[in-house]
Amino acid sequence: MAVPLSPGTDEMKIGLTYDLCSEYLSLGYSEEDTAELDTTETIEGIEIALHSLGYKTERIGNAKSLMMRLLNGNRWDLVFNICEGIFGDGRESLVPAILDDWQIPYVFSSAATMALTLNKALCKRVVRDAGIPTPDFCLVRNVDDLENSKPEFPLFLKPVMEGSGKGIGEHSLVWTEEEFNTVCRHLLRRYEQPVLVETYLPGREFTVGVCGNGPDARVIGVMEVTFNKEVMEIYSYENKQNYKEVVVYHKVEGEMAEKCGRLALQVWEATGSRDSGRIDMKLNKLGQPEFMEINPLAGLNFKNSDLPILARMNGMNFTQLIDAIMQAALKRIFLGSEAHSVMMKNEQYSYYPT
Ligand SMILES: Nc1ncnc2c1ncn2[C@@H]1O[C@H](COP(=O)(O)OP(=O)(O)OP(=O)(O)O)[C@@H](O)[C@H]1O
Ligand SMILES: [Mg+2]
Repeated sequence: MAVPLSPGTDEMKIGLTYDLCSEYLSLGYSEEDTAELDTTETIEGIEIALHSLGYKTERIGNAKSLMMRLLNGNRWDLVFNICEGIFGDGRESLVPAILDDWQIPYVFSSAATMALTLNKALCKRVVRDAGIPTPDFCLVRNVDDLENSKPEFPLFLKPVMEGSGKGIGEHSLVWTEEEFNTVCRHLLRRYEQPVLVETYLPGREFTVGVCGNGPDARVIGVMEVTFNKEVMEIYSYENKQNYKEVVVYHKVEGEMAEKCGRLALQVWEATGSRDSGRIDMKLNKLGQPEFMEINPLAGLNFKNSDLPILARMNGMNFTQLIDAIMQAALKRIFLGSEAHSVMMKNEQYSYYPT
């Protein structure tokens, strides 16, 4: 049972902000437009976990519903925000910015971190500036940029501001100038945003779950991602719903887990990420992990999202994961970073006990 840390309240009212996939599909958006959005099952899973931890919850919905409710005088002690948004490069920042303006605390990263991490090129610059390895890269913003200098082949091409595998497929790995030209033109046309052109990382792939803030930030698990289709050399599923047919997960321990965990915590700090998230990385040709991307809004479907899966592999069930996220947020918001640590006491969740 969680011990809520809000001053003077022992039963907090938690508002839930989210973008429901079905709502946008019924408005005429495509499966691909809504690939990053959440299902009712995900919202129900989070609600059930919060209730079992002793919190009261209220569904708010998307940014527009939040705005209407705020203007109607509704308030919450804290908002559990998993809104992905749908338009523009501030789409993940919108709800955090509104809540900041109304001075309502919320779980997960701030507007600035959401905007930074949504743009993979900007994020790579910040990460690289912190001395963290990430593949060399350039941006193709339009066809004129196709002539610019770029890293050596093989290259990996993806839209600079998408998630959930959008725009990524077997076409992403290119070996020749001709392939490079064709794929860049296709991605520019299809996704109407710059193409991120990166050195291809040929080695094993890992995803690392992090929970906590400042000195309390902890790795909750490291998971290797492999592919069970023999023909598939790269992660090429377009939609995570069919992940079971394509992806196999393995728990990683020992020296490799420590290396990946250290890199993840450095990225966590460099990007100012908060409460919980997931960092993706892959080994370079020398067998060393390099940063690919960070997800400050990691999927939270209790059955099939990567963060709950990797938590489970490390002895943390879904309710314990939500508890750890809430404790991280509450400590950050109500106790400040100097206060006595109340989270992640169980060292089995952590590779880096203080
Ligand atoms: N530079 C690279 N070299 C090799 N493979 C890469 C590279 N960048 C991305 N990939 C492959 O493409 C996949 C998706 O890339 P990335 O994580 O950037 O996209 P995403 O759509 O944001 O992912 P997610 O599904 O985690 O939201 C990676 O998991 C990896 O398999
Ligand atoms: Mg990823």
